[in-house]
Amino acid sequence: MEKNIDGIPTLESSKMRLFQILQDENTNVERVEQVLLSDPAMSAKIIKLANSPFYRHSDQSLGMRQSLLTIGLDMVKCLVLSMAVMESFGTNTVHAIQLWRHAYAAALMALSLSQGSKDKEVLFTGGLLHDLGRMVLLFNAPDVYAPLYDAKGTWPDVEQEQEIFLTDHTLIGEAVAGKWHFPPEIISIIRHHHHPTDRNSALVFLINSVILQIERDLPPDILQHERLLAKFLGKGYNDLVNAILQRYEINAVIIENLF
Ligand SMILES: [Fe+2]
Ligand SMILES: [Fe+2]
Repeated sequence: MEKNIDGIPTLESSKMRLFQILQDENTNVERVEQVLLSDPAMSAKIIKLANSPFYRHSDQSLGMRQSLLTIGLDMVKCLVLSMAVMESFGTNTVHAIQLWRHAYAAALMALSLSQGSKDKEVLFTGGLLHDLGRMVLLFNAPDVYAPLYDAKGTWPDVEQEQEIFLTDHTLIGEAVAGKWHFPPEIISIIRHHHHPTDRNSALVFLINSVILQIERDLPPDILQHERLLAKFLGKGYNDLVNAILQRYEINAVIIENLF
């Protein structure tokens, strides 16, 4: 199925409209609340998250306005985009759920590490969708892709994908994100997250590497990539590793409430 992305569903347009409104710097909670009136499933998800033990600090249950203020528009954006993609690819297998957990972990970590940065939006979306190509492979070729997982449930690496499909999840993700008209900065992260070519792809590479090792109960080992990381992230990349390790558990609690 080299570069065969026929049959890729389109993203649900009402969610993408909401996503665009959320990306508008001048947007506000009132406007978002208004648009959410036409999406009961999305609204229910937001209220559920805001009322989960992680966010809720009183006995009073929160309505829509308070829920939006409590979880913040960044988190709403995360929910909207992931639900739009999930509706295309589904979450109904163990492998898909594992992949979404990983995607959320990368997105929330990218958000945590890029507060105040001009590239926050790009890093967050790039983090969430960096393994979009794996979702496509699981969705389009489950009978071939799922058996490539090893006994521990670890998905195949880029080289294995190349051997079987003559392409890999970074190239497939790039093609699908292009078809969905995502901005080039985000497509570049998806394309280069295993072989970084700039600061943003290096940051998602680092986040991906560290969270994968935590997910697999392995100690973080980034020494092998030292030169590459120093080249794009400077000497401070070690501080980033520590920040990821410190933040991981907090994000994991939030992620549990996203399903
Ligand atoms: Fe990947
Ligand atoms: Fe990944």
